[in-house]
Amino acid sequence: RIFRKIYMKKYLVIGNPIQHSLSPLIHNYWIKKNNIQAIYEKEKLEKGDLESLISKVKQGKIHGVNVTVPFKKDVIFYLEKLTLEAENTQSVNTIYLDNNKVTGHNTDIDGFGLAMQDIKFDVSKKHILIVGAGGVVPSIIYSLIKMRAYKIYLTNRTREKAEDLKKLFKNLIILNWGETQNFDMVINATSVGLNTNDELNLDFSKIENNKLFYDVIYNPKETIFLKNAKNLGNKSENGKRMFIHQAALAFKIWHGVQPKIDREVENLLDK
Ligand code: ATR
Repeated sequence: RIFRKIYMKKYLVIGNPIQHSLSPLIHNYWIKKNNIQAIYEKEKLEKGDLESLISKVKQGKIHGVNVTVPFKKDVIFYLEKLTLEAENTQSVNTIYLDNNKVTGHNTDIDGFGLAMQDIKFDVSKKHILIVGAGGVVPSIIYSLIKMRAYKIYLTNRTREKAEDLKKLFKNLIILNWGETQNFDMVINATSVGLNTNDELNLDFSKIENNKLFYDVIYNPKETIFLKNAKNLGNKSENGKRMFIHQAALAFKIWHGVQPKIDREVENLLDK
């Protein structure tokens, strides 16, 4: 038993706050299912801890790291290599050692893409509005561009953050806060809705019905944003599938195994 523990590979999700992360739950579930000798934990960090954490990956003391808010960009400074996806979004959510180089990758991009595939929503030729400019937005924009979305609009309470994103994605159309027109898809990428009673107070009445409203948030399952959209006759989708897919893509990179996404996994996250 002791021997076993020595050879356990160690994986981590880092962020601040990190308390509510469900990454350990899903990764440990798949680790067990696949009989892998590993453990996945969460750790709350400060910015000043990033350097020593990355050196542990270099030394082989930690075998993989998921990065969440607010370090997806900050961590890049300490990495030795970036994949094209990480480079283009300036955002890293998955770290591993590749040819002895600490490498940063971004699985949020394809996580979002696969979520769209799951619900058979074709973004090509579509007008899409993103509300908010939080940590996952560069990945969503890049994914939408990859899938040939026709036009991508963005509105954020703090305009400056929206303008920063335009530096990365030249074709992004910045709208004034709350300026809404008719769109085919509206994405809530703000943190509003994490607390059950939070509401954006934006007017989406110019949007025809039967459009898609997507919330990056998956806990609570149905934010007021999604509830209102449904009441107006629209389709709605929360961030759960994206979360599961980004985790599965990281798992595949680290363990070389494609984990099963089934009912049990989905139920795991509903608790
Ligand atoms: P995360 O990366 O977790 O999404 P974040 O980087 O702090 O967190 O971003 C949160 C997003 O929610 C931001 O777009 C933020 O808008 P600001 O850039 O203006 O701060 C948005 N947000 C948070 N609270 C909001 C509120 N009450 N009304 C509108 N937008 C809000």
